[in-house]
Amino acid sequence: MTATLIDGKAVAAGLRREIAARVAGLSFRPGLRVVRVGDDPASGVYVRNKDKAAQEVGFDSATIHLPAGTEQAELLALVARLNADPAVDGILVQLPLPPQIRADVVISAVAPEKDVDGFHPLNAGRLASGQPGLVPCTPKGVMHLLRAAGASLPGARALVVGRSGIVGRPMAQLLLGADCTVTIAHSRTRDLAAECRRAEILVAAVGRPEMVQGDWVAEGATVIDVGINRLPDGRLVGDVAFAGAVERAEAITPVPGGVGPMTIACLLENTLEAALIRRNI
Ligand code: GUN
Repeated sequence: MTATLIDGKAVAAGLRREIAARVAGLSFRPGLRVVRVGDDPASGVYVRNKDKAAQEVGFDSATIHLPAGTEQAELLALVARLNADPAVDGILVQLPLPPQIRADVVISAVAPEKDVDGFHPLNAGRLASGQPGLVPCTPKGVMHLLRAAGASLPGARALVVGRSGIVGRPMAQLLLGADCTVTIAHSRTRDLAAECRRAEILVAAVGRPEMVQGDWVAEGATVIDVGINRLPDGRLVGDVAFAGAVERAEAITPVPGGVGPMTIACLLENTLEAALIRRNI
């Protein structure tokens, strides 16, 4: 069997169109502020893409760029101003932050109802206890892709490889919420190959190039590859060895063009959701 490719670019474009249409019907523009501290070049690209996508769907979006030497107290003061600004529905502080600033402190300072990254402990707790709240963008995007691929989730054996707070843990919670039987594997998992071979839904989010080998993928599995890794020869690869996996899976995301485009589309979805809830619409 050769797998169907799950086209993240197309699914993301559809979601962005749907958001733009909903924004066009509103009497106000949802407000997003993206905060960048310092000059990390990758962050520069991400922040520009987020801001551009937000403007394209009709949001009132702006980037606030602070110098690398910004003290934590100054960033907290900015977050407090944005929390209090009624025109701002969503606040995103781009990570990583410079070493003098504690990311956990800043994340906890963002008003939970404006936390469009879904990183605030209150939102993480809501997700873990099955309550509605803002959900991290990348795992939310994965759920969209699983639905677009027509994956049957209730009762399915789902394996999440990786336990980060941004992807792995919320991913597992979302799959559990969709009635999967969920396993989380990580660097101390004893026999990762065996865990992968049992999985009907396999989500790889470890950030290690091609760590999940092709012959670890079960025949007919749905494989979502969250990894984007640059090899020394310049090639971009995922956390799954694609060439082998594509021969066994029923459906698989490519890298690039799979999960990547979904993250920004879900940031827009979260911002619209935050705007509607804050304004009781
Ligand atoms: N840095 C890399 N990915 C992300 C993300 O999704 N949100 C934020 N705030 N920073 C990031």
